Amino acid sequence: MTTAMAPGKIILVGEHAVVYGRPAIAAPVWQRVAMATIEPAAPGAGCSLHARDVDLHLRLTVAGDDEPLAVVTRLALAQLGVAQEPDWRIELHSEIPIASGLGSGAALSTALVRAIFRQLGHEAEPAQVSSLVYESERFYHGTPSGIDNTVVAYGQPIWFVKGRQIQPFTPSVPLTIAIADSGVRSPTKTTVGDVRRAWQREPARYESIFDAIGELVCTTRRAMEEGDLPALGRLFDANQTLLESLDVSSETLHRLILAARRAGALGAKLSGGGRGGNVIALVEEEVVNRVSDALYTAGAQRVIVTQIGAEAR
Ligand code: MEV
Repeated sequence: MTTAMAPGKIILVGEHAVVYGRPAIAAPVWQRVAMATIEPAAPGAGCSLHARDVDLHLRLTVAGDDEPLAVVTRLALAQLGVAQEPDWRIELHSEIPIASGLGSGAALSTALVRAIFRQLGHEAEPAQVSSLVYESERFYHGTPSGIDNTVVAYGQPIWFVKGRQIQPFTPSVPLTIAIADSGVRSPTKTTVGDVRRAWQREPARYESIFDAIGELVCTTRRAMEEGDLPALGRLFDANQTLLESLDVSSETLHRLILAARRAGALGAKLSGGGRGGNVIALVEEEVVNRVSDALYTAGAQRVIVTQIGAEAR
């Protein structure tokens, strides 16, 4: 039996504008992972995929091209020169809620690709995994920037610009982030599609918002390099305001964000596609519990506290 896993992710700053070539910063979340297990099946049984969490059961031979996990499996097998369908039972399991901005699709596909490589005696390179997973991201995001597959495949914080060489990036002081799930499911494809249509209608207005986000991401990088947490908090807040002007926030997200700020978070914003999913709040150690309690009181379904940059120390 072969197993492999991959982390969830958060976008710290720069979502949506990153689809239009501006930079963004993202980090893995190892407290929530996706796992893939491959067991040999009886000779002639063929390859089947089972994701019990979402009640998905597929036969590789009959699954269509609208099934991202089947697409990724075929691509990975083709890359390894496997022409004949293997006799495998593949089980997928994820602790990452779907459509919540935590990269559940990218994490499942990444775990799957790694398990396939391992089962065939190879260890997949992050760049190889990332480019295979990108193909499934097209299904989840419509026009993905590639940031989710990249951060999940590399498993470390990154500075990301679409189409450029990735840059691993570690803040000079660890960042403590409370991640609160609004419980509202919002497919990334929908918000990415809505922003695209709005940009097509009013290109000048949207380009200037994307520029403002791009500049904010550059300033955020400097604040991270300098370990200036109060500045970073203000940048989270400013990014949230810009995301609101892209119309990807919601009343529920706003309520959580305000609750976190009032409880002492340095700053808070939505993370990922928006309209639902998760908000992230930058907190100092001494207020973590207070912010977490306030998020639950404001309606969060789950709060995870993660440290960005601590793992690299
Ligand atoms: C989703 O995690 C981030 C978005 O910018 C989409 C993308 O970059 O593909 C909303």
